[in-house]
Amino acid sequence: MAHSDPIGTALERLRNGDVVAMPTETVYGLAGDALNPLAIRRIYALKGRPAGHPVIVHLGPDADPRQWGAISPVAQSLIDEFWPGPLTLIVPRHPRVPDEVTGGRSSVGIRMPSHPVAQDLLTAFGSGLAAPSANRFGRISPTRAAHVRAEFSDELYVIDGGPCAVGVESTIVDTTGDTPAILRSGSVLEASVTAIVGPLGASTTVAPGTLKSHYAPMTSLRISREPEAEAQRLEAAGLTVAVFAAPELTEHAQQLYAELRRLDALGVDVLVAEPAADEGLGVAINDRLSRAAHGFSTSQS
Ligand code: TXA
Ligand code: MG
Repeated sequence: MAHSDPIGTALERLRNGDVVAMPTETVYGLAGDALNPLAIRRIYALKGRPAGHPVIVHLGPDADPRQWGAISPVAQSLIDEFWPGPLTLIVPRHPRVPDEVTGGRSSVGIRMPSHPVAQDLLTAFGSGLAAPSANRFGRISPTRAAHVRAEFSDELYVIDGGPCAVGVESTIVDTTGDTPAILRSGSVLEASVTAIVGPLGASTTVAPGTLKSHYAPMTSLRISREPEAEAQRLEAAGLTVAVFAAPELTEHAQQLYAELRRLDALGVDVLVAEPAADEGLGVAINDRLSRAAHGFSTSQS
């Protein structure tokens, strides 16, 4: 039964205040009832995430974002252009949103995913699902159901929605200040946001996903524009090395976390990753790569 009706199985768990893993177009999320503080605490406990980190509320295609926060004209224009899709908006919270979701802030992050399975689940649930990426705190985000299963016990129910089409987390735009600001880069590009709302401001909000060290493999990671030459240098020094050469941008984003996970499991001494071109989707890819490499001695050659 459990596998013949994944949405039904997940729904039953969610209604009991339990947590399930759901696919989205960006990465897999650990989802729980956004109005149930206990469910949110379960998400935190599973992730090993420190309290006070806010989580994004995911909304179904028919949901009214005004039930979650105040939607300014700027926020509405971004919603009209980019939802459903990989854009999270930070907006002033509605009073009914639990502190566990917002980390006690006066704002809340909301997004309407485009993944059909996430949409089916949200429509059936009929309310918002709070969901951070389905990885343990600080580790690599999951873009396949198998990534989630490898990181959590069998007790976590995972809906398999296939590989994530985007592969990096949603773009986050803070609309609570005088001028909208990008808190995290993603596949909705800065230029596309600017085209809708005009020049962006610098954000004063700190999003915990913007911690310098994040998305990290266990193996030491170096970033190099000449990965083969870098690998040869390291091998000459007696180290075992695996290289992640940059494919074309869309594929790079899709494969990024899967490749980091695969290479991390090889048991080599050092991973060498070639950065993407620093334009378009490459901005988000390089942002994740540099955070993944932070804390290891990196080479920027
Ligand atoms: O693509 C995504 O956004 C994925 C999928 C599952 O939807 N989710 C995701 O969630 O990346 P998470 O929790 O790993 O990252 C959410 C980011 C964090 O950096 C958090 O600080 C920020 O969103 N955030 C959420 N609510 C916020 C708020 N009220 N103010 C500032 N930042 C907020
Ligand atoms: Mg995350």
